[in-house]
Amino acid sequence: MKKFNRAGLLAGGIAASLAFTACNQQPATNTEGGTSAAAPDSTQTSAAAMPTSSSFGKTNAGAEAQLFTLTNAHGVKATITNFGGTLTSLMVPDKDGKMGDVILGFDNVSGYQSPEFLKSGPYFGALIGRYGNRIKGGKFTLDGKEYTLAKNNGPNSLHGGKVGFDKVVWDAKPGSSADGQTLTLTYNSKDGEEGYPGNLAVTVVYTLTADDALRIDYTATTDKATPVNLTNHAYFNLNHGVGKDILGHEVTLPADRYTVVDATLIPTGELKPVKGTPFDFTTPHTIGERIGQVPGGYDHNWVLNNPSGMHAAATVYDAATGRTMEVTTTEPGIQFYTGNFLDGTLKGKGGTVYGKNSGFCLETQHFPDSPNQPSFPSTILKPGDTLKSTTIYKFGVRK
Ligand code: GLA
Repeated sequence: MKKFNRAGLLAGGIAASLAFTACNQQPATNTEGGTSAAAPDSTQTSAAAMPTSSSFGKTNAGAEAQLFTLTNAHGVKATITNFGGTLTSLMVPDKDGKMGDVILGFDNVSGYQSPEFLKSGPYFGALIGRYGNRIKGGKFTLDGKEYTLAKNNGPNSLHGGKVGFDKVVWDAKPGSSADGQTLTLTYNSKDGEEGYPGNLAVTVVYTLTADDALRIDYTATTDKATPVNLTNHAYFNLNHGVGKDILGHEVTLPADRYTVVDATLIPTGELKPVKGTPFDFTTPHTIGERIGQVPGGYDHNWVLNNPSGMHAAATVYDAATGRTMEVTTTEPGIQFYTGNFLDGTLKGKGGTVYGKNSGFCLETQHFPDSPNQPSFPSTILKPGDTLKSTTIYKFGVRK
């Protein structure tokens, strides 16, 4: 079995981290027309050097949530709130140059805190931590000590526990770098929070680049060894503007194997070849083509081929709009989830009803339950080490 380790991945992420440290968080001096790298075209709009901010309403705890809008010279816009570091919308062009929102979400922060949303727990667009995906039985042993986490998903712990990074208010600083407008989010997760050891300092930088990509750079340090698995839980629908499901989207995943799971979606440890199964997306297939053969729908972790440095993780194409999305990452795995638990009870932006399969997630990550799976790439961050992870979602059109 091929093994990866966090150290290897860290080495692979050096280019990304250099790019990250080169980011200048100060306001840029050329304030007009975006970056010089942007090709002039008829749809070009003027992009200010700094993101704008507005109120996103009050959180249930009474804090003021802010919404930041990042824009590039092509008029591509990403909106992100400091509540959960949540990506709330992403406007990208279709094959006719028409802008449309490709992200599921709500018009204000109360949508992300409604009883229905919290009960069904879809984590729309949020930053996920301290541990993305499931930990079996909400338990793991580290350096001889057993740690107990909240069980918030049947017998398991999911996405950081009861109050994961998706439900906290992050400190937010808008800025700009040579690559585009940025939003830097920081959160200090306390020793013992949700049962995890160590004070964990997390920084996440969203960058909207001149070439229509949303890049997410994650950095974390700790003062005690702890499992960490950070991701973003955006639900994409490249045809969202007209409220269609995602079954017609064509997906490619450069992964020859996936992690087999038990009935509670915990990996058995087996990395199974996808060949000859409905999990084979090594060549493009529409989501709907074989989803009926997968009980419940896709909600699995694929083992990415060639996982060193920045590598390919997924390609998506929607023939109806011509929109494409390419995902690259430093992570070894990707959870492809087809919105199986959405059931029409949530009404989102502009009153859109979110039914089953109305969005899909591509959560770049280390494999689920890694703290209990010694053969999986390690998710343990140690004091003195810095976790660095990067994922890029790049948009385009095919005519
Ligand atoms: C992840 C999980 C799913 C589900 C969603 C949120 O994708 O793997 O099972 O919990 O998050 O609804």
